[in-house]
Amino acid sequence: MKALVLNEVKKPLVLQEMPSPKASKNQVLVKLMAAALNRRDYWITQGSYPGIQCPVILGSDGAGITEQGTEVIINPGYNWGRQQETQSGDFKILGMPDNGTFAEEIAVPKEQLFARPEHLDWAHAAALPLAGLTAYRALFVQGKLQSSQTVVITGIGGGVACIALQLAVAAGATVIVTSSSQAKIDKAMAMGATAGFLYTTEGYASQVNEQFGPVHLIIDGAGGDGYGELVDTVCPGGTIVSYGITTGPTAKLELRKVYWKQLHLVGSTMGSPDNFAAMLEIVNKHKIEPVIDEVFALSDGNKALEKMNVSSQFGKLVLRVSDK
Ligand SMILES: NC(=O)c1ccc[n+]([C@@H]2O[C@H](COP(=O)([O-])OP(=O)(O)OC[C@H]3O[C@@H](n4cnc5c(N)ncnc54)[C@H](OP(=O)(O)O)[C@@H]3O)[C@@H](O)[C@H]2O)c1
Repeated sequence: MKALVLNEVKKPLVLQEMPSPKASKNQVLVKLMAAALNRRDYWITQGSYPGIQCPVILGSDGAGITEQGTEVIINPGYNWGRQQETQSGDFKILGMPDNGTFAEEIAVPKEQLFARPEHLDWAHAAALPLAGLTAYRALFVQGKLQSSQTVVITGIGGGVACIALQLAVAAGATVIVTSSSQAKIDKAMAMGATAGFLYTTEGYASQVNEQFGPVHLIIDGAGGDGYGELVDTVCPGGTIVSYGITTGPTAKLELRKVYWKQLHLVGSTMGSPDNFAAMLEIVNKHKIEPVIDEVFALSDGNKALEKMNVSSQFGKLVLRVSDK
């Protein structure tokens, strides 16, 4: 089969022949129709991930057809374990160390397969799993979002942020977004956001509060020095859920504000199989279509990674694996 392979970190992926996977007793062979990128794939190509083993086929998101003819999407979170509160020590994400979805075929444990939402074509189905799962848990499990509340979603151009916007709007919450780009804010408002602010403008937190406070919840994948603005933006007793640190660690955190405002600073990583099923229920009920920025041919995977590097996308970057 053809696959996009990382043979060496900091080198482009190579489209090459790889042995077709064989399904073991508990696995199902899936012929992939589409795959999607996550920032994780980019971090791995840059060597910024623990335990990288090459050669490896990257890709956590995929949609395709089983040998029995069932149309499926793959839950990329393996071995979550029994507890809903946290993942087990065996938890791993599809696409390193195990070979991932940037390939024509993949062998997947049966329990990771879920029916493809009927309203989604292959590209949109592939765009959903990792971002949808992460956004669902961050908003509703860790963030406990209620329909009467106001939530700020940072960096709205991101794949997780975009689907978080859609899920929060479907839940009836008031959504404010931040971005580096007015054009992306305009797109988010067309999707149901009430307002948007440029996080590049210093002191934007006070404007958010004056115009749209109280902000009960913030969903953040950026971290970095901008985190301080989030502590200023959220209302007393409010919650900030962190699911990523795209801009790096936060060097300075004013803990005085954290305890004085009685804040909840919460982490979130992907989600359990129950969270995945609950996310799918909302997506099916509201006929949510993940936002796709661009679909690339599998052979153009490096172009998609470069687009992710400069963050010019709004939503997901998808790879078309098969036209059939
Ligand atoms: N914990 C988990 O389970 C989990 C799951 C998925 C992803 N993640 C992590 O979450 C992050 C986002 O992932 P993704 O796949 O959605 O990435 P992505 O699609 O590449 O999104 C990156 C976005 O980050 C935003 N951004 C950059 N600098 C920012 C800043 N200073 N303040 C606010 N936003 C900023 C940009 O938004 P604008 O273009 O609007 O400026 C950019 O589009 C990554 O760090 C990823 O590793 C974690």
